[in-house]
Amino acid sequence: MEVTYYGHSCFLIEMGDYKVLFDPFITPNELAKEIDIEKIEADYILISHAHQDHTADVEAIARRTGATIVSNWEITQYYAGKGIEKVHPMNIGGKWSFEFGIVKVVSAVHSSSFPDGTYGGNPQGFLIESGDKTFYYSGDTALHTDMKLVGQLYNKIDFAFMCIGDNFTMDIADAVIAANWINTGKIIGMHYNTFPYIEIDPVETDLMARNNDKELILLQIGQTINL
Ligand code: NI
Ligand code: MN
Repeated sequence: MEVTYYGHSCFLIEMGDYKVLFDPFITPNELAKEIDIEKIEADYILISHAHQDHTADVEAIARRTGATIVSNWEITQYYAGKGIEKVHPMNIGGKWSFEFGIVKVVSAVHSSSFPDGTYGGNPQGFLIESGDKTFYYSGDTALHTDMKLVGQLYNKIDFAFMCIGDNFTMDIADAVIAANWINTGKIIGMHYNTFPYIEIDPVETDLMARNNDKELILLQIGQTINL
């Protein structure tokens, strides 16, 4: 599975013949200046919650590519109201079989509103089964004990995209606990270093992961890896 990092919590993941984009926040991100959103192709855009640092480029990319927006009811209705026709509303606890794989929506402990004040429903995370891989995308969240359910519902989680920047979300110590609860050994870090509030100490972060037998992957912006 090919994974490209576009900074903050934004990843493009190729699943089979489909390109799935998560939480696009690129043009306002000082660290992602090299990325040209006009060149990003997407078949689906998954949105964890409405905050600007997860939705800034949704509208532009959805209009140009015709990608289907997958998110909670409130967020999909917000974009439908802007004339974007291809949306698929979901909510926490539900799953749906898409062309690229099965998406189950799980809870996140956070908040969710658009920059213009529009209510953005409940924040959420995603569990995705595609091909022979199962992975978790945490969205913005605190460590919370519902994550233990993931470990009960799924035999294996191959890797997990998890927020590690602290202040607004989990830090690496919490992410390590979450990784234990969901049964994964591989964490792809997100939601760190974009703003002063979420700067991480790379040495301490790495140590925390290694001391707990977790592989922590921190991608360069623009980097592509195979998972
Ligand atoms: Ni947020
Ligand atoms: Mn955020």
